[in-house]
Amino acid sequence: MKKALRLLLYFLFGIVGLIIVFLCFVEFTGIPRYEPRPPQLKVEITQARIDRGKKLAEILCRDCHYNPATNRLSGINMLAPSQFGVAYSRNITQDPYYGIGSWTDGDIAYLLRTGIKKDGGYAPPWMVKEPLMSDEDIYSIISYLHSSDEWVQPVAVADTESKPSLLAKILCHTIFKPFPYPDHPIPVPDSTDRVAVGRYITVVAADCYNCHSADFKTNDPLNPEKSKGFLGGGNELNQHDGSDIYSANITTDKETGIGSWTEDQFIQAVRFGFIPNGKTVRYPMVPRPMLDSLEVDAIWKYLQTVPKIHNAVQQVAYK
Ligand code: HEC
Ligand code: HEC
Repeated sequence: MKKALRLLLYFLFGIVGLIIVFLCFVEFTGIPRYEPRPPQLKVEITQARIDRGKKLAEILCRDCHYNPATNRLSGINMLAPSQFGVAYSRNITQDPYYGIGSWTDGDIAYLLRTGIKKDGGYAPPWMVKEPLMSDEDIYSIISYLHSSDEWVQPVAVADTESKPSLLAKILCHTIFKPFPYPDHPIPVPDSTDRVAVGRYITVVAADCYNCHSADFKTNDPLNPEKSKGFLGGGNELNQHDGSDIYSANITTDKETGIGSWTEDQFIQAVRFGFIPNGKTVRYPMVPRPMLDSLEVDAIWKYLQTVPKIHNAVQQVAYK
């Protein structure tokens, strides 16, 4: 009996020791690096692609990369210190030294798809990854980054290194791994299939599902519908001052979701931030006026097809 107990103790010490060695390794090596394998790619720039790219950048990139002081996508301290640490986004203007002016189209596409930067570093949890975006939309974002729009004109602002938390480092060594670069073309959804269009906006082009499912850590970016609590809300996020806020349940459950809303109320909330109780949505939910009513209508139609989740999300008092 005693011997068994001693063995068990040795075993437990062994496990604890291994965990400590792993944590030290993670703390010192930081976010992992990978060998970048950017594709050969030269995007043909058209005005239509620039326009589409600007819209996608307004929805997907602006909130994190736009700096009002420079009126450029020159990077910011992302204010809300979160469970993942203190994050600074980067200068993604055309400046060849401080920005991404020296990146090839392949380098940009490779980062957006896989999460691996030109220097081989893995872009941590804050930076979006787009493994499911249509090729056409990736080309549009790249075209926009090369355009004469003022947000992307070169500005000599140096990047500040982010300070990922131990949790962010552990996750990047375990569950947050680079996505494979797609080995097949990814088409734009058929525009006559409004539910498919709505799904694409919800899980790809406006990334709603990412915040609105249970937790970033259990989201499944390659199969978004398999994310825990898909669109059922409750994801713990941070307001500008760092205080907690929880994403809303946007499934059509009558009591805890938006099942009793009218489509017009939904459009008002998504485009302008006005919600039926007379309040406005708080950061990090940002109104999306650039989505037109037809697009929000498509999201609405898609949400009617998503399984309802009964989940009363914790409410945070308005300040
Ligand atoms: C939720 C916040 C967030 C969003 C949204 C976001 N980014 Fe980023 N991005 C970051 C952060 C933070 C980094 C810095 C990563 C690091 O520390 O390595 C970054 C890094 C980058 C880099 C690497 C730059 C370099 O010098 O290494 C590029 C390029 C980039 N982002 C482009 C984009 C584009 C294009 C979009 C829109 C499709 C976008 N980002 C959306 C937060 C974001
Ligand atoms: C960056 C994270 C984030 C993204 C992206 C996001 N949301 Fe939200 N959303 C939130 C949070 C947090 C709340 C709760 C805000 C509050 O309580 O004031 C919210 C609230 C809402 C509400 C109000 C629900 C209610 O019951 O009051 C709707 C509707 C909504 N979001 C729809 C969407 C749609 C559609 C998209 C994509 C176009 C989207 N959201 C993208 C975080 C996000």
